[in-house]
Amino acid sequence: MTVILVTGGNRGIGLAIVQAVGTRVADATVLVGCRSTANAEEPIKELKKLGVPAKLKALEITITDDASIRAAVKVVEENHGKLDVLINNAAAVTLPKSTDLTDVRESWARTLDCVATSQVLVTKAFLPLLRKAEWGRVVMNSSARGSIGRNIALELPPSPHWLYNCSKAALNLATIDFRNAEVRDIPDERDHITFWTVSPGHCKTGFNNFRGVKDPAEGAEVIARLLESKRGEISSATFWEFEEGKFQQVPW
Ligand SMILES: NC(=O)c1ccc[n+]([C@@H]2O[C@H](COP(=O)([O-])OP(=O)(O)OC[C@H]3O[C@@H](n4cnc5c(N)ncnc54)[C@H](OP(=O)(O)O)[C@@H]3O)[C@@H](O)[C@H]2O)c1
Repeated sequence: MTVILVTGGNRGIGLAIVQAVGTRVADATVLVGCRSTANAEEPIKELKKLGVPAKLKALEITITDDASIRAAVKVVEENHGKLDVLINNAAAVTLPKSTDLTDVRESWARTLDCVATSQVLVTKAFLPLLRKAEWGRVVMNSSARGSIGRNIALELPPSPHWLYNCSKAALNLATIDFRNAEVRDIPDERDHITFWTVSPGHCKTGFNNFRGVKDPAEGAEVIARLLESKRGEISSATFWEFEEGKFQQVPW
């Protein structure tokens, strides 16, 4: 059985990820991460009605709350003894209330916490359980907005939200830091956890007041493809997207 945790799995792209991996990964238990289990009850019922074959279970985890992270690790340890795949999907942006420096500083601090720091802490907290799996994998749901290569090449539409782009760039580098720590500290490659970053693309969700252009299911496709790959086929510390029918790498 493959145990997969999707943080923020109760709506938006997270829910689409739950549906995609719950359908395409054989013999999966998908833990639907949510701030309150009540938020996951309806979505889980809907997915069951749609015939998603995986076992779906709500798991309370607020990624910005250390006690909640610790409690979630304990639940997964007691119920499953391992975690095969961690999908760090949950995130939120806090825009400044005004141009006052204190407000702007506060919004940057909160956004960085919810888009990068918390993903690092959640990953660190789950590392011991990921090590107990036959092949531990971590997926960071990032954004092409955090690609330094695409930014420097002026390939992205202008964005007023530097705080989001910079936070995603930090998350991207953390993916590489995690891979580097495996390579440096763990001599046998067969024991390495694999770390991937993805860009789901501009999807219609509450995140952007449903102004995105892709259906969240299209946004989830890149993660389903990664989880369908066999060990060693797709290198750790690589950045992926699925755009216009193509599964391709994004430059860091
Ligand atoms: N939508 C896009 O176009 C787009 C593009 C590129 C990347 N992304 C990335 O895709 C991911 C999902 O975005 P989305 O568009 O699906 O957003 P969304 O519809 O706003 O959903 C966000 C999810 O994250 C959860 N969440 C927020 N803060 C949390 C916290 N502190 N602890 C735990 N859960 C928390 C929310 O829970 P509640 O229901 O409790 O609020 C919700 O389940 C994000 O990482 C985002 O940056 C989105």
